[in-house]
Amino acid sequence: MDAEDARALAQGFDPQRLSAAFYESPYETYAALRAWDPVHRCVDGGYFLTRYADLDQIYRDRVRFSSDKRSVFGPVFGVTSPLYAHHTTSLVFNDAPYHTRVRRPLVEALSTSVVRGLEAGITSLVDSLLGRLQELRQFDLVEDFAAHIPVEVIGNLLCVPREDRGPLRGWSLAILGALESTTTAVQRRQGNEAVSEFTRYLRKLIGARRQQPGPDTDLLTLNAGHETTTNIIANGLYLFLRTPTAAQLLRDDPALVVPAIEECLRLESPNQLGNRLVSEPVTIGGVALEAGAYLTLCIGAANRDPQEFARPDHFDITRKPNRHLAFAAGAHACVGMGVARLEAQVALLRTLQKLPGLRLRGAARRGARARFRGFVSLPAEIA
Ligand code: HEM
Repeated sequence: MDAEDARALAQGFDPQRLSAAFYESPYETYAALRAWDPVHRCVDGGYFLTRYADLDQIYRDRVRFSSDKRSVFGPVFGVTSPLYAHHTTSLVFNDAPYHTRVRRPLVEALSTSVVRGLEAGITSLVDSLLGRLQELRQFDLVEDFAAHIPVEVIGNLLCVPREDRGPLRGWSLAILGALESTTTAVQRRQGNEAVSEFTRYLRKLIGARRQQPGPDTDLLTLNAGHETTTNIIANGLYLFLRTPTAAQLLRDDPALVVPAIEECLRLESPNQLGNRLVSEPVTIGGVALEAGAYLTLCIGAANRDPQEFARPDHFDITRKPNRHLAFAAGAHACVGMGVARLEAQVALLRTLQKLPGLRLRGAARRGARARFRGFVSLPAEIA
């Protein structure tokens, strides 16, 4: 694309009107925005930001940038809706002091030592899923593999009885799906129904256990960890299956799994978009932003910013340093990053080691979502 086309693409960008090609790969559009209009004013008056330095600054500044989304969710969901009640009580969409209070027990519940204790269980879960793939020979890497891992891991963390786990993923998909910048009435209805069913279920569970933590904490933890972790596993497998030299490098040196997963997180970030509201007038990237302005922070673009990453579109599993923003940064940085990293490391390494004949089969299908990047279906087979 020449410079004029890139400039026109950037200036005409409208996150409310995205094409099928964009969902397939948004990176050309993101490169144009970064180069020509990094603090892009959208048709609805909000801003879409794509540069690493700008996102890093905003994520680390909770004074000038707020996570409290009540004013945004009210008109979209309706203030009496289950979706409004759910999302406005989640810590991710709140500021201090509520945020600080709710985050603290979660950080403890997902501490490094807790995460370390999960490794044996995750390994045996992954091995049993891989054993089934070996029997099936042809399968879907999302439905038959990646999606099972967070359901079981989070189910175990929260002591959800195994027989109750079936609906968890569907609830999570419906609740987070309602956060897309454009949603249909059907998606909002499904989101509301999912919150109601989920809340009823958790009340029952908590009542039965007669213990803390409160339902909001549980709800967010479950949702935040499902789709993103499924997606990092499927996105990572896709990258490796498309890049056999990287797969061989990892098989030859399994210790590379740590930087390899960081590279998957950077290159195909499962959570591509975040949001903040401007609390007081501030200038970012030379653009004066007014108090109340709604910002969309494009993690997917920042993580390929050539100002921060050499050869940013290249899949380099030895990349160092790799200060990606896939888990955001600052006060709201992902609480579950340790769990997510461990799940992805075990899943990717064991799959490449145990299924050397694994290859893609037919068309992979991406979800038409801009915020959460992943696959709906990733057909594969063992050759
Ligand atoms: C690869 C998988 C994951 C990715 C890419 C991811 C990404 C993120 C991002 C970008 C944020 C910041 C949101 C913002 O402030 O706007 C976040 C927050 C959060 N994540 Fe994750 N996440 C993942 C997995 C998980 C898992 C497995 C859990 C729980 C077990 C989890 C729990 C949370 C929680 C509770 C927050 C809110 C933190 C706060 O607001 O203080 N995440 N995540």
